Amino acid sequence: VSAADGQFSESAARVAAWIEDYRRRLPSLPVLPDLTPGDILSGLPERAPERPEPLEALLEDLDRLIVPGLTHWNHPGFLAYFSSSSSDPGVLAEFIAAALNVNAMLWKTAPAASELETRMVEWVRGFVGLPPEFDGVLQDTASSSSFTALLAARERALPGTREHGLFPRGDAAGRPRVYQSDQAHSSIDKAVIAAGIGLEGIRRIPSDARFRMEPEGLHRQLSADRAAGDVPVMICATLGTTSTASVDPIAEIAAISAEHGVWLHVDAAYAGPAAALPELQPLFDGWQRADSIVLNPHKWLTTPIDCSVLMYRDPGAVRRSLSSTPAYLETGVEAKNRRDYGLPLGRRFRALKLWFLFRRLGAEALRSMLRSHIALAGSFAEKIVEDGRFELAAPPSFSTVCFRAVPAVADGEDSGRRATNAWNRDLLDVVNRRGRVFLSHTELSGRFVLRLAVGSAWVRPEDIDAAISELRAAYESLAADQPRRRSD
Ligand SMILES: Cc1ncc(COP(=O)(O)O)c(C=O)c1O
Repeated sequence: VSAADGQFSESAARVAAWIEDYRRRLPSLPVLPDLTPGDILSGLPERAPERPEPLEALLEDLDRLIVPGLTHWNHPGFLAYFSSSSSDPGVLAEFIAAALNVNAMLWKTAPAASELETRMVEWVRGFVGLPPEFDGVLQDTASSSSFTALLAARERALPGTREHGLFPRGDAAGRPRVYQSDQAHSSIDKAVIAAGIGLEGIRRIPSDARFRMEPEGLHRQLSADRAAGDVPVMICATLGTTSTASVDPIAEIAAISAEHGVWLHVDAAYAGPAAALPELQPLFDGWQRADSIVLNPHKWLTTPIDCSVLMYRDPGAVRRSLSSTPAYLETGVEAKNRRDYGLPLGRRFRALKLWFLFRRLGAEALRSMLRSHIALAGSFAEKIVEDGRFELAAPPSFSTVCFRAVPAVADGEDSGRRATNAWNRDLLDVVNRRGRVFLSHTELSGRFVLRLAVGSAWVRPEDIDAAISELRAAYESLAADQPRRRSD
């Protein structure tokens, strides 16, 4: 059905105008809404309308009900988590993809989408300097990508699991094990749960003072587990961990994985694009020996969510673990069918977003954006330390800075770790409630730590300056409030 008014081009132009207006207003909106759960729901009618409504009514409600209830990921002051922003090329590609609405489950159902996806994975691979052995697919998220890689690794370590499952292996059979540092993302835990290995199968290898996996610990644990008859399934190294963006020593980990014959998965969901910068290549040296690598253009490459690139050294491994062809999906055509490379059958036309991104912006502009984000994070780290009331909580890495306030009052009840943590929690709360910037937090060795990550298409130097002045202002207001807080 076309829109009730039958005027698609006019409606599309109206929506484009709305988007431009939203973008103009965005810097003056609070990044985070001041809401409690259910506030938006209560403003929405309980039943769907029976009769068509004009586009204008919808756009008005978008402004009235939805925009005030959004955390604005495209806001230039969004400096929380890892950024996920949408630059123009991806927005336009999403629009076209929705209109084409091809389902790239089989080559036959979407020949051009399938082959463009092949080429786009190659473009990303070339952009980050990986060798041509790597071949892959686009997935929705890094979580799905890592899960799929784990299924491939599981089938390699425990052949026949796809047929028999994990259960008939008997009590005497060794326990499947997955190795990751204590800084790995929770998506690996989830993958382990979903793959039937169970959280008890995870070996959390301690990280060093810079939050990098200790290769010696990995080697020791693998040897001990092998001696006990356990089955190492996968090592997951993270290049750009979620808390501090630390980088596991990938060359050493790759050597250990080769020595023990264990699948090596690299989670570079955030930092992967930085491998495109020759000056940062040494941090990635060794990742080309991995069995699988994930990186997310929907994080640091300004591609609208969702778009995750999963590359395999041997893509046959994932086919062997997952492929199944019912009669109704047989095509008689020898071609790469993307449904064999992941859980979903139906697949969006994500490749179009990367095609638009690279062609409209060019690799050079993307590299300079990455460099400018790293420089902005570096200048933030310098200025916040210079202030004297804040300290770094981890070495700044890529475009991520972990830091915390040194409380104004450091004696009596405020001297302990709990009080410092509470002070920083309050500080973050004050900053985020003021709405100019949005920062997030993490925990490092029991310490509550503030976190700023630069990565948006829309961030400007003044937003980083604003983060500093907001932090200073929040600090001062908490310090002024101190006598009252102490007597609470
Ligand atoms: C290192 C790392 N891996 C994986 C993920 C999960 O990404 P996604 O939301 O694409 O599943 C994140 C999310 O921030 C991450 O930081």
